[in-house]
Amino acid sequence: MEKSSGKKNTAVLISGRGSNLRSLIKYSKTKKSLIKIVLVVSDNLFAKGLNYANKSNINNIVIKYSNRKSFEDRLLKLLKKNNIDLICLAGFMKILSGKFIKKFNKTILNIHPSLLPKYKGLNTHNRAVQNKDKYSGATVHIVNKKLDSGKIILQKKVKILKSDSGKSLEKKVLKIEHKLYPKAIIRLLTNY
Ligand code: GAR
Repeated sequence: MEKSSGKKNTAVLISGRGSNLRSLIKYSKTKKSLIKIVLVVSDNLFAKGLNYANKSNINNIVIKYSNRKSFEDRLLKLLKKNNIDLICLAGFMKILSGKFIKKFNKTILNIHPSLLPKYKGLNTHNRAVQNKDKYSGATVHIVNKKLDSGKIILQKKVKILKSDSGKSLEKKVLKIEHKLYPKAIIRLLTNY
């Protein structure tokens, strides 16, 4: 087991593109990484992000989401089997139940594409542009049973220009997400 090196056994949950997964894999391969990604789980068989796990030989599994209970039961078993210490949600678009969060009993992190508590839920970029906000950004927070409401670990702002659309803002925010997630993990695990 990787425990002797002090690295946290980490599972990353995805639903789609997986660009945050890619950045977490990149971080996990650095010498000073505090995590080892031992498992990638997707609720979507066609998630492009699965390719990144395959390329890096990371055990990856698709759990079909027929209903929340059966998904979470299977997921919990896998997490236990793999001695998972930390879950990173990275574009995982299903909501985990309070029961699951309690049962897992260790930290679950999420990255969200807005400056929480603003714009919980979906469609964050269009909402920020439509409201003529001056800034948007990304947040990494601990997952609790209330959607996008757990303790904030780290946030970073980006300026919204008059010329920005939801799409262009999404691109800008995604770029900062890729740096923010590893930084937030370091902050969480070193308490700095
Ligand atoms: C990211 O922007 C992430 O913040 C967001 O989905 C995108 C996934 O991109 N997550 C949420 O909206 C969660 N509510 P990726 O698959 O390329 O990492």
